[in-house]
Amino acid sequence: MTTFALTRTDHPTSADERAAIVAKPVFGANFTDHMALATWAVGQGWHSREIVARRPFELHPGAATFHYGQEIFEGLKAFRQPDGGVALFRPDKNAARFASSARRLAMAPVDEADFVAAVTELVDLDRDWVPSPEGEQSLYVRPFEIASETLIGVRAAKEYTFCVIATPVGPYYPDPVTLWATPNYTRAAEGGTGAAKCGGNYAASLAAADEAAEHGCGQVIWLDGAEHRWVEECGTMNIMFVTAAGELVTPALTGTILDGVTRDSLLTLAPEHGLRPVERRIAIDEVFDGVGSGAITEVLACGTAAVVTPIVGFAAPGVNGSDRRFTVGDGTPGTISQAIRAHLLDIQYGRAEDRHGWLRRV
Ligand SMILES: Cc1ncc(COP(=O)(O)O)c(C=O)c1O
Repeated sequence: MTTFALTRTDHPTSADERAAIVAKPVFGANFTDHMALATWAVGQGWHSREIVARRPFELHPGAATFHYGQEIFEGLKAFRQPDGGVALFRPDKNAARFASSARRLAMAPVDEADFVAAVTELVDLDRDWVPSPEGEQSLYVRPFEIASETLIGVRAAKEYTFCVIATPVGPYYPDPVTLWATPNYTRAAEGGTGAAKCGGNYAASLAAADEAAEHGCGQVIWLDGAEHRWVEECGTMNIMFVTAAGELVTPALTGTILDGVTRDSLLTLAPEHGLRPVERRIAIDEVFDGVGSGAITEVLACGTAAVVTPIVGFAAPGVNGSDRRFTVGDGTPGTISQAIRAHLLDIQYGRAEDRHGWLRRV
């Protein structure tokens, strides 16, 4: 029994073209043949659940999402398994976060079972688009929801569209990353939308990302909005610190940080790598001092797209317009970061035992 009524595309991508795309996927460049859709309206709830040929949306230019930014999204991956099957990684976590994002943006939450059904049924149908594990390839699944009511006037919309699309991908950050501690921008403030995965958070981060690039860094390390002192996360990843005392330290979830699925997974795996997981506040000066003194031995950032990305350095504003620069360890990826990264990938690709029941076969 499927939840989403299926109408197959009548113009599928040819097997040759698909094979060429899947053999060497470029992150987010190509999409599978189908998409899942559902609509919500006041008085009707969610209805018209269907999987159809992927096609452009037709929306009135007055649709609320264009004007007031009611938009949320998720990102999760499907992995090719050793027996040729396909598995999703912890889709229930994304379903729960999607509902929580919806509530923060005053949108209609998608029932968590419907979210998982939409993702599973789409990936099942388009399973030939799931690449082989070589080169850390996978199928990235992008569920999202928009306010589709035509509405000029600020209030919560009375009509929403839920959609799931999927794109075969390779690595997001092929190389280790250096982070810029921007003095000019904050990502989130208490009471804001930092814990929600909404498009507006990302739009607001782009100027800071440009600033990071101007300072020779690949990403921003976000500090809290009130004191500009406490470490929060990175552009599209949570951040973690391996200490000489054998801890895996990550900023506690205070409502301004995204509750990452990868973050939770690494905290769970930490003891298997001899690390004690610690969630607490950590000041940026403690980070800079710690990488200098060796109290912090490794820094890593983690997220679905980026997996585990070694952070090899930081830059921050210094005196007279020059930057202060900090190198983590010897400036190359640390051994624990690499081991925990390999462990996570081994679970995701079905090469290591899934002791925590994280994989969901499609
Ligand atoms: C701002 C931000 N923080 C953290 C993460 C990591 O979350 P997850 O591990 O669920 O992908 C992401 C990616 O989704 C993100 O965009």
